[in-house]
Amino acid sequence: MHEGCRARGRCRMECSWKTVLLLVCASLGVQYTAIHTLRDSLSGPCQGAYRCQSRHHRDFRWRSVCDDSWLPVESPRKHILLFATTRSGSSFTGQLLNQHSGIFYVFEPLYHVQQAFTNSSSRLRRTLDRRALLGAYRDLLLNLYTCDLHFMENYIRPEPQDHVTSTFFRRSSSHALCSPPVCLEGGNALASDPPDETWCPKKCGALNLTLASMSCLSRGHVAIKTVRVPEVGDLRTLTEDPRLDLKIIHLVRDPRAILASRMMAFSDQFRAWKIWNATGRQPRYVDLSQITSTCKDMAASAETGLQRPAWLRGRYLLVRYEDLALLPKEKATEIYRFVGLEMEDRVQMWIAKNTNSNMSSPSEWNYRYSTTRDSRATAESWRLRLGFNIVRTIQNLCNDTLALLGYKQVHSAAELRDLSHSLVEYRTFEPVT
Ligand SMILES: *[C@@H]1O[C@H](CO)[C@@H](O)[C@H](O)[C@H]1NC(C)=O
Ligand SMILES: *[C@@H]1O[C@H](CO)[C@@H](O)[C@H](O)[C@H]1NC(C)=O
Ligand SMILES: *[C@@H]1O[C@H](CO)[C@@H](O)[C@H](O)[C@H]1NC(C)=O
Ligand SMILES: *[C@@H]1O[C@H](CO)[C@@H](O)[C@H](O)[C@H]1NC(C)=O
Ligand SMILES: *[C@@H]1O[C@H](CO)[C@@H](O)[C@H](O)[C@H]1NC(C)=O
Repeated sequence: MHEGCRARGRCRMECSWKTVLLLVCASLGVQYTAIHTLRDSLSGPCQGAYRCQSRHHRDFRWRSVCDDSWLPVESPRKHILLFATTRSGSSFTGQLLNQHSGIFYVFEPLYHVQQAFTNSSSRLRRTLDRRALLGAYRDLLLNLYTCDLHFMENYIRPEPQDHVTSTFFRRSSSHALCSPPVCLEGGNALASDPPDETWCPKKCGALNLTLASMSCLSRGHVAIKTVRVPEVGDLRTLTEDPRLDLKIIHLVRDPRAILASRMMAFSDQFRAWKIWNATGRQPRYVDLSQITSTCKDMAASAETGLQRPAWLRGRYLLVRYEDLALLPKEKATEIYRFVGLEMEDRVQMWIAKNTNSNMSSPSEWNYRYSTTRDSRATAESWRLRLGFNIVRTIQNLCNDTLALLGYKQVHSAAELRDLSHSLVEYRTFEPVT
């Protein structure tokens, strides 16, 4: 590899130089064409207040490095993935990224892919299903990271007309999708706390995906939250893609807390568990498979990440939700340092406001995916919400995961309820560098 390359850290790939060139040229071609097509379809506001055009030139210009070849200038554009599991605190953590004015944040776009696959008529074999689904997930992530929101149209149902949709999943969770240039009405609503998850479509009308793509280009960085990718290994081709500078924030949480939270949020699906919790006796038909695979996937990903394979170097950060809840400012700083961005004042203000809230008007915030709560108090509140019998079962199913992530087991109901002793061991998980 060329000296200058090594010094500047630009040539990351370890395969042959020719392959690198081919790959890079091919991908640049695709990206360049995509960007041009998109830019050609954009006009009006772009040249005005939002300056996509000039931004875009800065982000995507190319320059000769390594003497005789072309590689993208080390892009300032960050591609952040909040990689989590259902009810692990990812809505809260996602807001830390959503508050940043330079980040285009999307909350669980893979929902649409899963819906499309789930309803597809052909019943493929399981492994093939899984591979195809994961491939579609990666395709969508790649396209979103390069600001092609139109790619979503392959999956959104009903099919968007004229690049406009009114069924974009959890749109209200994204500032960028509810503020100018996407939504001209949205500016003020953002200043105060949005009351619920329907405010944005109500206020802004249907979502114009072309405008969303423009907004994406005009912000410097893209962050995506998902709970639908099972293991970090499933993301490997994205970490190796020369078009991306992927930063994976792996958010984990005590599986006992995850279970308690799922029982509260999805009570219909967890009826058997609630009976178990209320009676202390395990119904025969209770489904242990979901929490078991949650534990298995979480541990497998953490093990992979902490082993620091070459393809994850500098790209993986393990964050325990409990640490974030206990020391939100410190942990948020660590997250921002990892992704390589400045933590803006408004992020700090959001943290101050949302981590010490005394829930003065809980009715306003008490919707299912609320992120505003006293994070400190909720981190271990599951200990008052689960019977010891259930806790013991989960501990047996997930003992390796608990040990790996530093969550202590309890051996009696009294120990479970005694909140003066934290079950979260002090641990540091050094960022992979
Ligand atoms: C998938 O099918 C279910 C049940 O038939 C339906 O309720 C749901 O709306 C469909 N989802 C999509 C995205 O078409
Ligand atoms: C969506 O926004 C683009 C860019 O401003 C505009 O050209 C297009 O007409 C809009 N689409 C609709 C259906 O309003
Ligand atoms: C909680 O909020 C109420 C109303 O905003 C305020 O009067 C009260 O002092 C607050 N309590 C604490 C402990 O911050
Ligand atoms: C489990 O039962 C306890 C009472 O023993 C109750 O306080 C708690 O809310 C229940 N948890 C759930 C998730 O239903
Ligand atoms: C978890 O339980 C299994 C089976 O009981 C046991 O083999 C394993 O050593 C345990 N792991 C830890 C970390 O305690």
